[in-house]
Amino acid sequence: MPDQAHHPDRSPIRDVQSYIGLPLIYNHWYVAGFDDEFGEMPKAKTLLERSIVFYRTKAGELTALQNRCLHRSFPLADGTLNGDNLVCGYHGMEYDPDGRIVRIPCQDRVPNRKLKKYPLRKQGPYIFIWMGDEDAVDESKLPDFSFLGDPQYECVHEEKFVEGSYLLMMENLNDLTHFSFLHANSFAFGEYFGRLETEAGKDEEGVYCYRLDRDWKRQTERLPPALQEKLKGKEVLNRNGGVNAGPGLFKGFSPLYVYGADGEVEMELKTYVMHFVTPETKTTAHYWWSLCRDYGLGNDEAKAATKALFSRAFDEDLWAIRNMQALLEQDHADYEELIIAGDQAGMLFRREVLEWVKAEYPEFR
Ligand code: FES
Ligand SMILES: [Fe+2]
Repeated sequence: MPDQAHHPDRSPIRDVQSYIGLPLIYNHWYVAGFDDEFGEMPKAKTLLERSIVFYRTKAGELTALQNRCLHRSFPLADGTLNGDNLVCGYHGMEYDPDGRIVRIPCQDRVPNRKLKKYPLRKQGPYIFIWMGDEDAVDESKLPDFSFLGDPQYECVHEEKFVEGSYLLMMENLNDLTHFSFLHANSFAFGEYFGRLETEAGKDEEGVYCYRLDRDWKRQTERLPPALQEKLKGKEVLNRNGGVNAGPGLFKGFSPLYVYGADGEVEMELKTYVMHFVTPETKTTAHYWWSLCRDYGLGNDEAKAATKALFSRAFDEDLWAIRNMQALLEQDHADYEELIIAGDQAGMLFRREVLEWVKAEYPEFR
């Protein structure tokens, strides 16, 4: 292996090729899709290299089952429905919405076997899925994203696709020093952004990173004029960043604090920018983003402009990740990853990912 000479440290913490090669981690919640994309007709999706069939019972209950007939691996989404039961399109084996076999047409005996069933939870417009074993489901690992369905917030949402490892995307999200460069034509932040005072660490929610900006002009110039007027002469502070709240859950948060004459916070304008990245395979991922805010509401034109701006910026991230993934796969020579100041949270998150991998794969301990 001549390559090895160029890789003094192949640990997944110091080496992105090893990092994105880590096995997928299942005992966590991921987004499966928008609630309204799932109807009564069976729909198959591949999440974390598992083919899953989703359908709703007549009562509207959404179910997610292993999309593989227990007989000969026919994909059940290509079968038919008999009431609430899924009928395999090959030899007609019938499963109830919990995945239990209820009928085998060519015999009387019905073995006590069932398909793997995936627990689902709804928050706002999203369906979250537990990818681990049904009896190991951990509600405490599902963060509270209730603002996604809270009428006090106005939200925009969009689905995209990542042609690269979900880990590259998650790392992109907790390092905003790329704003000034990769997003020079969208967010258009100056180089100052990467030098702002930074708070990075890990708390009960996960690995976080925020950049602190107290510049009045920068913080108010994109606000609606009426709000700008209201904030005249006030001290402001923006904490821009977020937390990696799971392997594929990123809770971006960018509150603007407005201080009164007594130095107390007088107003807080909240903006959440959520990113949900669910691996399809190790090298591709489903991706949804949502932006929710509790100010400047009711202006459809502004809402559409915000959605267009963020969508364009996130396409820039996807372009970068596609190109990085391709290069990482093609060329392994003369390469040793350099770590810089903006990587603080990225490094912490790599450590956390490695801990999650160790918890599921004894060979990594
Ligand atoms: S493959 Fe499904 S019944 Fe045979
Ligand atoms: Fe970005």
